[in-house]
Amino acid sequence: MSSPRLFDAIVIGAGAAGMFCAALAGQRGRNVLLVDHSPEPGRKILISGGGRCNFTNIGAGAANFLSANPHFAKSALGRFTPADFLSLVERHGIAWHEKTLGQLFCDGSARQIVAMLLDECAAGGVETAFGLPAVVEHRDGQFEVGVGSSTARAPALVLATGGLSIPKLGATSFAYDVARRFRLKIVEPRPALVPLTLAADQALFKTLSGVSADVIASAGSEMFREAALFTHRGLSGPAILQASSYWQHGQPIKIDFLPSVQGGWLREAKRNEPRAPLARLLNRHLPERLGQALTDQLGLRGELANIPDRALEVAERQLAGWCFHPNGTEGFAKAEVTAGGISTAELSSKTMEAKRMPGLYAIGEAVDVTGWLGGYNFQWAWASGHAAAEAL
Ligand code: FDA
Repeated sequence: MSSPRLFDAIVIGAGAAGMFCAALAGQRGRNVLLVDHSPEPGRKILISGGGRCNFTNIGAGAANFLSANPHFAKSALGRFTPADFLSLVERHGIAWHEKTLGQLFCDGSARQIVAMLLDECAAGGVETAFGLPAVVEHRDGQFEVGVGSSTARAPALVLATGGLSIPKLGATSFAYDVARRFRLKIVEPRPALVPLTLAADQALFKTLSGVSADVIASAGSEMFREAALFTHRGLSGPAILQASSYWQHGQPIKIDFLPSVQGGWLREAKRNEPRAPLARLLNRHLPERLGQALTDQLGLRGELANIPDRALEVAERQLAGWCFHPNGTEGFAKAEVTAGGISTAELSSKTMEAKRMPGLYAIGEAVDVTGWLGGYNFQWAWASGHAAAEAL
């Protein structure tokens, strides 16, 4: 068997975090090998943002992330900001636009971001090995990675294989498995930014499949004002995906269907338009099918004039905090990200290196840092990749 090839660092996972980390480390003069079991790097980038890649969010800060340690992400996010990534995008001549809520997208295609990262890797002289499974061993204080029939050895190994979301795109538990072997703790991974399913007793809403509305969705004390979408299995759309990351089994998801109206609006409407039925009023704010379904559920038919004020007050309260009781999520197959992962307690927030296993690093989604919807997860991939690269 041939002797191992020597590198300064081996990065496993050529997704957003791994490619960026390898490129920066290479450009700092490190001899880097970037490995991925998929023949095509950056597959999630390619499908992200509907093919246009929501590559960052200009407002990204630690408050937009879930983690057992909410302070962990601050250092890395502070040292590599959305503006830093944007200037790289601009240096590569990639046209971009802000869509909404600080979300930046390519005007053209997510392929441009993958091409940019590969160019940056080439500029750093990064060697790649794609399309082959990797096997990790630790010998004499060095990491040995078997890739196909060859072996590479380095004093530093970066785990950048992401979380469990979307196995059909190549997601595996590789980072968690390696971390566990080196006795690092894992925060139980769970699907996040994921559609929620409703039990049969809320089947009425199945008739609304395809209907969406601007709402405030909340799980516990976290609230998100964006669109919610009814599906044939339950609830989806940005507001629900955001709330899903905070949702726990047994907890309700509350929806305010009328986030723009003031309290007391129904009694006022009764005075001004006594002949109007409730559904007509709701249809001014909501899609017709939804307004009708909510009216039916409330059991308030007929003209407002004939509905007691007390019943209107109750209806207002219900419309402002409709309780749905999801019985689960659509799981990792549909989850945009994985919450949980390698515990931040095991890692240096400055370098992403394992405190108890020198030379082992973890970055990106594999770590217990999970962003909101809207470019935050990529910003974490860039920032954590940068933090590790600076230390390699
Ligand atoms: P990522 O998953 O990108 O990369 C991991 C790499 O490791 C992959 O290349 C994989 O093949 C490789 N790998 C896995 N197991 C391996 C093994 N055993 N051996 C070798 N290699 C292995 N975020 C955002 O900010 N804006 C957006 O627009 C979107 N849009 C979006 C859409 C969809 C449909 C999904 C599923 C996700 C998003 N996201 C997003 C989330 C974002 O894609 C995600 O958080 C980042 O890609 C995470 O980057 P990582 O590099 O950590 O993992």
